[in-house]
Amino acid sequence: VDLETRLGAILSDHAQLEGPLLPILHAVQAEWGYVPPEALPIIAEGLNISRAEVHGVVSFYHDFREEPAGRHMVKICRAEACQARGGHGVEAAAKARLGVDWHGTTADGGVTLEPVYCLGLCATGPAAMIDGRVVARVDEKRLETLLSEVGA
Ligand code: FES
Repeated sequence: VDLETRLGAILSDHAQLEGPLLPILHAVQAEWGYVPPEALPIIAEGLNISRAEVHGVVSFYHDFREEPAGRHMVKICRAEACQARGGHGVEAAAKARLGVDWHGTTADGGVTLEPVYCLGLCATGPAAMIDGRVVARVDEKRLETLLSEVGA
C-alpha cells in the first residue's frame, strides 16, 4: 500500500476525534517508524490546517521522529536515581562515542540514542536499554561493550 492510501485510511480512522492531530501523528509513526516529510502536506490538507502547524507539532514533541531511526536503539536512563549513580558520565560517554546528541542517529544509520526516564532498575543503575533489552549497572566500560555489540 502506498503512503497516500495508507495515510488516507489513518486520516479517516481519526476523522471523528476532537484534536485528531496527535493521534494521527502517533499512528503515522507506528506505521512507518517516523513521520515522513511527504506525509505533512497530506495531513495538513486532511485536517484543514497549515503544513507549518503540522510541522510545528512534529518538531515540538520529541516522541516524533522526522527521519527513520537507526538499526539499533540505545536508550539511557536520565531519571534521578540513575543520575545519582553516575548516569551523567554514561550519557556523556555515549554521546561522545556515537558522535550524536539525544535523538540523534549515527552517520551510518546504525544507532539512535534516546533518553529514557526510569526503566525500573533504580537500585542497580545507571540503567540502559539496548534494542529493548534492559541492562543494569552500566558504567563507561560496560557501555563500550554494549555499543560494540551493536556495531557502533
Ligand atoms: Fe533509572 Fe529508575 S531512575 S532505572
